Amino acid sequence: METAQPGQDTLEGRVILITGAAEGVGRAVASACARAGASVVLSEPSETDVGDLYDEIKASGGPEPAILPLSLEHASEADFQGAAAVLGETFGRLDGLAHCAAFAPFLSRIDDYDASEWERVIRINLTAPFMLTQACLPLLRAAPDASVVFTSDRVGRQGLAYWGAFAAAKFGIEGLMQVLAAETRESGSIRVNSLDPGILNTRLRMRLYPGENPRTHPDPATVTGAYLRLLGPAGRGTTGASLDAGKATHR
Ligand SMILES: NC(=O)c1ccc[n+]([C@@H]2O[C@H](COP(=O)([O-])OP(=O)(O)OC[C@H]3O[C@@H](n4cnc5c(N)ncnc54)[C@H](OP(=O)(O)O)[C@@H]3O)[C@@H](O)[C@H]2O)c1
Repeated sequence: METAQPGQDTLEGRVILITGAAEGVGRAVASACARAGASVVLSEPSETDVGDLYDEIKASGGPEPAILPLSLEHASEADFQGAAAVLGETFGRLDGLAHCAAFAPFLSRIDDYDASEWERVIRINLTAPFMLTQACLPLLRAAPDASVVFTSDRVGRQGLAYWGAFAAAKFGIEGLMQVLAAETRESGSIRVNSLDPGILNTRLRMRLYPGENPRTHPDPATVTGAYLRLLGPAGRGTTGASLDAGKATHR
């Protein structure tokens, strides 16, 4: 990725859809995109989950945000297509798609991993991002410089004990990112990358490590710059890369 030049982090005029916008990384990324001038579409299962963020962004005076209610666990293919149709009617295109939603119920040995939970975790963290991306592809193709960012995790790049289906889903995300990047490379107008934000003080981390002092880890706001660079003009020319937010370099 290029080193950001002055003005390269602006997202003015861009429409960016962010999943998991109520909490953690997604919330921080949505706020930062709005501050950088983007029209943000906040996606969560329930509209009320992002109501306060919607109000906050609206009050800040930038482009009006939008809310796209979507449950990544329960949405059908028709629901994803319907959501993309609404975006198409409202905006006509999509300049950025930041996949930040995540669900990890517990850490467990493979010996004990509950099979129905396995399917739920794969559905929310891998199948749903695929279905949403697929539904949005026509809108991304309608944008002159579109960027898809899949939020990754170190456990999806190197197997780590007890991370079970979540790790398997993140390995799948890396594969999906590479396949889609290869399929869109020729177009020159859609770039697709994955970004590992690193260990952060979020609800996901607290749920899995309840004994940990949350202040040990950085706040999600510390990684938004890496998302902005990938979503905006500074990310042009970067596709198919597995990046770390801390270093923002290829792994
Ligand atoms: N935190 C870390 O230490 C860390 C480290 C490396 C990578 N990451 C990555 O960063 C990403 C974000 O994690 P986070 O720490 O920000 O997690 P988080 O604080 O738990 O936030 C996850 C978000 O995803 C939403 N979500 C969960 N299930 C959903 C569903 N079925 N449909 C739609 N949305 C759903 C949640 O909404 P609700 O509030 O409605 O549940 C929430 O807004 C993940 O991809 C994770 O792998 C995090």
